[in-house]
Formats: sequence, structure tokens, C-alpha cells
Amino acid sequence: MDRDELKRAAAYRAVDFVKDGMVLGLGTGSTAYFVVEEVGRRVTQGLSVICIPTSERTAAQARGLNIPLTGFDKHPTIDLTIDGADEVERGTLNLIKGLGGALLREKIVAAASRELVIVVDETKIVDHLGDHTAIPVEVVQFGWQATAAALTKFGATPVLRQAADGGKPFVTDSGNYILDCRFAGITEPALLEKQIGMTVGVVESGLFIGRASAVVIASEAGVGIMKRVN
Ligand code: 5RP
Repeated sequence: MDRDELKRAAAYRAVDFVKDGMVLGLGTGSTAYFVVEEVGRRVTQGLSVICIPTSERTAAQARGLNIPLTGFDKHPTIDLTIDGADEVERGTLNLIKGLGGALLREKIVAAASRELVIVVDETKIVDHLGDHTAIPVEVVQFGWQATAAALTKFGATPVLRQAADGGKPFVTDSGNYILDCRFAGITEPALLEKQIGMTVGVVESGLFIGRASAVVIASEAGVGIMKRVN
């Protein structure tokens, strides 16, 4: 199986968690894409859900599939969100998210959700969060250099993310920049999430601590479900 087939397998399995009548949060990224695809297919078969997307990209895909969309004005609580991740820590299910640039809306949607199910292929599972992946931190554009300097006090090496077409900084759906922050070693992720969050100029970080209830993982051996142990 190639990597897309693994992502599709995890995504389709996760959609089995969706029940008729739910308010559903739709994640962002190449794995969440397959979730939206499968939700769209089930909607055409009569599944009744109303969805809140985590990005303009996901909203456009959902509209194209005639998936009904709503907003927090009508539905401030979400029953279930299914989203991807860049790293999942074995056991704790702590996450790094945001390489796709949607971390702010993803965290708002996750925080409003009764349940957060993550879909990944096995390459995303790590023993220790942050050893391989930088933590994306969304910051306001004004004074981003000062915000970056402040983040170095917590051990970060921040790099301003560039747009894929080059030459200009990447700008999020909410009009902010992203600093990809490498850390030499993360010993207390919950504390680090708070420290980053309290830094002036920071909007939100891609650390998702204690939020995921289950992770659906696809590997060559099949699709498995990991639950949080604490
Ligand atoms: C976007 C995200 C994505 O969920 C994360 O980057 C995983 O994406 P992919 O499934 O394409 O690997 O957090 O902000």
C-alpha cells in the first residue's frame, strides 16, 4: 500500500465513529481530505450531519460534496471532530499539528468538541513528542521578530514559514504568520504549551495536549485504534 492508501484506510475507518444527527468537526490536511470524501459519500447515502470545517480548503471541499455546513453561532458545541496530525506521542496521544497551517481553527474546533479522533498513517507515531517535528506557532504579523525572540527564551529555534510559491511568508486563513519552532528536547509539553500560549504576539501553538480521545492508525498490517492510557 502506498502512503495515500494508508491515509485513506485510516480516514474511512474513523468515519465509522460518526452517528446520524451529529455536529461534526472536519479537519484539514491530506489525511483529513479522505475523511471529508467519505463523509460526503455517506451524506449522499442519507447520513444526516452538519459540519464545521477547520479551514477554507476543507470548507471548499465539503461544499463541493454537498456536505451541510454550520458555524459556532448556531452550534457552539461539536459532538465529534476527525482531524489529522503531524506527530502522535504513543501512550499520551499528545499531538503536534499545524504543518498544514490550519492549527488555530483546528484547536478552536478541537476545544469545542466532545471527542477528538485523529487519523494518521503509522509514520506519525513517535515515542517522544517534538524529536523530529518543529512545533508550528501562529503569531500576529505585527512584531513577529519580537515574538520569535521571546520564544527563544523557552528553548525554541523559530523559523518564519514561507509560502509554497516562495518569496513571501505563509499567511494563515486568519491572516497570521507561522513560526516553526524546533526544540532540542521537550520534557514538559503541557507546561511548554502554556508558556508559548502566554507569549505576547502568539495566537496559538500546534501542541495539542490531552485533547485526542482516540487515534486511528493505518499500517501495512491493517487499521488499529489507539486510546489514551491516562
Ligand atoms: C493542518 C494539520 C494537519 O492535520 C497535519 O498537518 C497533518 O496533515 P497530513 O494529513 O497532510 O499529513 O494539522 O494544520
